[in-house]
Amino acid sequence: MIKVENLIKTYKLGKNLFYALDDVSFTINDGEFVAICGTSGAGKSTLLHILGCLDKADSGKYYIDGVDVFSLNDSKTSKLRNQKIGFVLQDFSLINQKKVDFNVMLPMYFNKTSGSQMKIKADKALKAVGLDEQQNKNVNQLSGGQRQRVAIARAIVNSPSVIFADEPTGSLDSKTSQSIMELFKELNDKGITVIIVTHDKEIAAHCNRLIEMKDGKIVFDSKNS
Ligand SMILES: Nc1ncnc2c1ncn2[C@@H]1O[C@H](COP(=O)(O)OP(=O)(O)OP(=O)(O)O)[C@@H](O)[C@H]1O
Ligand SMILES: [Mg+2]
Repeated sequence: MIKVENLIKTYKLGKNLFYALDDVSFTINDGEFVAICGTSGAGKSTLLHILGCLDKADSGKYYIDGVDVFSLNDSKTSKLRNQKIGFVLQDFSLINQKKVDFNVMLPMYFNKTSGSQMKIKADKALKAVGLDEQQNKNVNQLSGGQRQRVAIARAIVNSPSVIFADEPTGSLDSKTSQSIMELFKELNDKGITVIIVTHDKEIAAHCNRLIEMKDGKIVFDSKNS
């Protein structure tokens, strides 16, 4: 379960403070499939980066499965992120000149997995995203949709309990976007909590819960309506 309470994140704007997140609270239960929507600048990426343990809030609380995330030191935070969280970005963030399977194995270089285990896990993740035949290609030989699948394979390779995806279909055409959303649905059906940021209502319609943000605040949550 993911629980945030009264999250505040500010940036200095001249002499003033700009509130990128302004008192955000919600709970997301295991197995939910959530879309976070809102206009540009609403605070969606800021929130997702904090949830993905890539950034910290100024104040507030964040619990994953009861663990008080902000109280952890850097090494414990990395460990938690590695074990529980998969993160997918809009621009894929892959190493294009390297092979598909190398990219998928990357997160495992940080957690002492043996070479043979890495290969087995990468194969399984690539199969789950329908890319098992492409693993010996370099990423730069793949289409946009295939690259996003590689990024998703990398996100699931350590068997996370939750996947955060920031505009995962933002640079894909609508047909490819649909297939990526179907893939998230399949992962969600296997029990992984999926939380995506999108400004596209059609993409959000694939999810079971809609959270809408504006000016750093949650202005709508379909769970409460
Ligand atoms: N490092 C930073 N320094 C100052 N302001 C920032 C910084 N990062 C984000 N902001 C501001 O915080 C607000 C929220 O940014 P954020 O990236 O979370 O928006 P978003 O909802 O993801 O927008 P988009 O849909 O365009 O990606 C914006 O007004 C942005 O300018
Ligand atoms: Mg953003």
